[in-house]
Amino acid sequence: MNSPPLLVTCGLPYTNGPCHLGHLRTYIPADAFVRYMRRVGEDVVFISGSDNHGTPIVVSAEQAGVSPRKLSEKYHQHFDLTFKRMGVIFDHFGMTDNPTNHKRTTEIVEALINNGYVFKQIVYQAYCIKCKRFLPDRYVEGICPHCGTLARGDECDQGCGKHLEPGEIKEPVCKVCGTKAEFRDQEHYFFRLSAFKEYLLSYLETVKGTSNARNYAIGWIKEELHDWCITRTLEWGVKFPGRDDLVVYVWVDAPIGYIAFTEEWAKKEDKDWKRFWCGQNRVIHFIGGDIIYHHCVFWPALLKGAGYGVPYAIVASGMVKVDDHKFSKTRGYVVWTNEDYLDKGLPADYLRYYLLSYTNHTKELNFSWKVFGERINNEVVNIFGNFVYRTLFFAHKEFGGVPEGDIDPAITTEIEKCLKTVDGFMQEYEFKGAVDTMMNLAAFGNTYIQSNAPWKLIKTDKTLASTVIKNCTQILKALALLIEPIMPEKAQDCWEMLGNTDPIATHSITEAITEIKARSIPLPKPLFAKIEESQITELDALLQKRVAEANKKMEKAPTISIEDFQRLEIKIGRVLGAEPVPKSNKLLKLQVDIGNEKRQIVAGLQQFYKPEEIVGRDVVVLTNLAPVKIFGVESNGMILAAGDAASLLVPLRDVVPGTKIR
Ligand code: MSP
Ligand code: ZN
Repeated sequence: MNSPPLLVTCGLPYTNGPCHLGHLRTYIPADAFVRYMRRVGEDVVFISGSDNHGTPIVVSAEQAGVSPRKLSEKYHQHFDLTFKRMGVIFDHFGMTDNPTNHKRTTEIVEALINNGYVFKQIVYQAYCIKCKRFLPDRYVEGICPHCGTLARGDECDQGCGKHLEPGEIKEPVCKVCGTKAEFRDQEHYFFRLSAFKEYLLSYLETVKGTSNARNYAIGWIKEELHDWCITRTLEWGVKFPGRDDLVVYVWVDAPIGYIAFTEEWAKKEDKDWKRFWCGQNRVIHFIGGDIIYHHCVFWPALLKGAGYGVPYAIVASGMVKVDDHKFSKTRGYVVWTNEDYLDKGLPADYLRYYLLSYTNHTKELNFSWKVFGERINNEVVNIFGNFVYRTLFFAHKEFGGVPEGDIDPAITTEIEKCLKTVDGFMQEYEFKGAVDTMMNLAAFGNTYIQSNAPWKLIKTDKTLASTVIKNCTQILKALALLIEPIMPEKAQDCWEMLGNTDPIATHSITEAITEIKARSIPLPKPLFAKIEESQITELDALLQKRVAEANKKMEKAPTISIEDFQRLEIKIGRVLGAEPVPKSNKLLKLQVDIGNEKRQIVAGLQQFYKPEEIVGRDVVVLTNLAPVKIFGVESNGMILAAGDAASLLVPLRDVVPGTKIR
């Protein structure tokens, strides 16, 4: 049997937040790779989907007041659309919560059980007596047993970065209610990962992909290989076979999604999914460096244990940083794909170019708007754009298009050399090397046109001038064909400027050396627009503002003594009357009974409450605040409220007006 088509997958995005530039470093290189492989004649299937399970999604859904399914559907669509806007085109984009994946996951877990790789064990899990529930993963916070930093239940995210197994965290606190949690016995199921040590070591010696994936994984396995707890006490997820109270850990059903999505795709296309997953395969996983362990250790062991084929290659990118800081939504170091980039009218292709060419795929990528602007203007616009424009403008003006004539063999050789170098880089997932090689060809074109000066030649030797231009258009044809995986839209535009009307992606890259036929071409428009410095400044200012605001939110107030607190007189007050303050659309004038006296208090509540909604309610009043006049109305005290929508604080049980808050 001939080898199966390539199956390229991308790490599945979690459906609890929007797409950012960090995500794109998985998807854009994968898309460029797929486009390239297709254009050199490979049959490729390109698969991804959204990862819907796990505690972060449940917690986010609870916070948003929607079901985890609804939240997942929302972000599923968001990612699907964002990828399309970025030119990342999957053959199928599934959801891990869909029935195919539930079925495939159950089947695989049952196979692992039957093959003796699953065992039961009692673990001491954090339990909240107040919420009456076990606290899996991110439902609990505490102290990392390895380094002593504040950590989440499943990962020491701020400190040493280690994965934490259930029961490992010290001093656990319930994230929902803040109560000190206790440990209780609970029965869980474990995957006997340690049984795969020798197998994994030999597998990793030969697996293809990037060296960082192999090397990290081998290092970890040599250090120690823990068995994995593969069940969680959650409602949301894929039920563990035979146990209605447990779901499988998200990192079991998420990678199985790769298989389920292949099944869904195969069904649509009337193909056989087993070709890709059973026995020898050509599965290539594109992921970020943060999930190497899951893909190089856990996943191949799961597959092997259940009798499936193991991945052919794992391609892991370095992590994306912003202004030299680790990506962090809470700290403001994040650049959103839609809000900050596409919605500002910036071309997807610029970002593709930047992310692919910035540095080696396995190295960290430090995003900064300034460098982004410089790279695009200096390279894409000045080198590539310039060559396109000069060539086509001259060809159009002097010859009405691509002239007749032969291609100089030296030019063909140059293009051939470029094709070969690009191919070497692409086969090795060295996207920067590939892009640089293409840009070198554009630079070569510029030098060629500059030194041959056809604008001078035309006055003395029109035939020679025409040969020079013919050669330039040949280089341009090669460039358009080569750059398509990197900048698909711009490549298509360039292709059309060269007088073609069909999709460039249907052409093989090897056509770069077949002679460009004489044809008429229209007057060229500039292919690329410069990014204005003012726009870069603006985008950078936006990022700085986000970081500043995040820092402010995280700033802790200075500690005060109990005496400091006692200087505040806070009492329960009953609202007796409320009316708008004349000429103000924000303020209400309240009459409040605070026990021994009646107070008039002005409060910014008009936009949030109708007077009749608050009259008769008991509220919390700061009573020893110095009186002031607001809009000419005396205000003697302050009503306490929370947040931007001024949610009023109210006593939980009945107390009489005037009761002191202590
Ligand atoms: N849901 C898991 C992957 C499951 S795969 C069976 C996940 N989701 S994610 O939304 O956090 O990330 C999606 C992809 O983006 C992953 O490939 C991840 O490695 C990548 N990145 C997310 N943030 C990143 C950076 N800051 N930098 C580089 N890539 C990172 O992980
Ligand atoms: Zn609790």
